Amino acid sequence: MSGGGVIIGAAADSDARALVELRRAILSEGAWFTAEPGEVADDVRVRAERLREARRSGNQVHLVARGGGELVGMVAVEGGRLRRVRHVGRLEIMVARPWRGRGVGAALLEAALVSARLHPALEKVELAVYAHNARALTLYERFGFVQEGRRVRQQRLADGTYADEVWMARWLRPPSA
Ligand SMILES: CC(C)(COP(=O)(O)OP(=O)(O)OC[C@H]1O[C@@H](n2cnc3c(N)ncnc32)[C@H](O)[C@@H]1OP(=O)(O)O)[C@@H](O)C(=O)NCCC(=O)NCCS
Repeated sequence: MSGGGVIIGAAADSDARALVELRRAILSEGAWFTAEPGEVADDVRVRAERLREARRSGNQVHLVARGGGELVGMVAVEGGRLRRVRHVGRLEIMVARPWRGRGVGAALLEAALVSARLHPALEKVELAVYAHNARALTLYERFGFVQEGRRVRQQRLADGTYADEVWMARWLRPPSA
């Protein structure tokens, strides 16, 4: 699948290093995710093992965007491990800074929703996003995600200010019961 000048495909074990580097670069921006740089261990071997486990799980999607010979974005939908939440997939998406605003995020999200629908176990996709992340909010709304709640001043940032967290979700198909 292609879009935004990139090719979208399944993440391979050999993408583990580039995925770790992409996350490290984006966490160092300090603006979009809860983890601060270096706070959560993310190692290439563990990442490759997680990708292998994901393929066996039946309720996970891991896709990457490739452009200019490099990995420039990723999206994951990870279904719950416990039975009562196996139908709910948690979405994570990131695009390398130079590639943002060119439709890569939209191409990744569209492909992730198509792939998620192929997993009968997955019914709903949810995510948490900072209320200040206008680009991400625009993208999610465009793809049918609706706000389910807002956690006020849920996170205290390094500069002492607080951020609200917005919870959004969308169903992959009409609820079965
Ligand atoms: C959020 C992110 C994945 C979106 O990917 P992207 O490739 O930049 O997004 P796209 O180019 O597909 O554009 C998405 C939409 O945002 C809109 N947009 C672009 N810049 C914007 C801005 N500053 N404010 C509001 N909307 C904006 C675009 O117009 C587009 O909407 P449209 O298609 O209706 O015109 C990407 O910017 C990113 O990785 N950001 C840092 C990490 C992050 O925030 N991840 C999500 C955490 S919840």
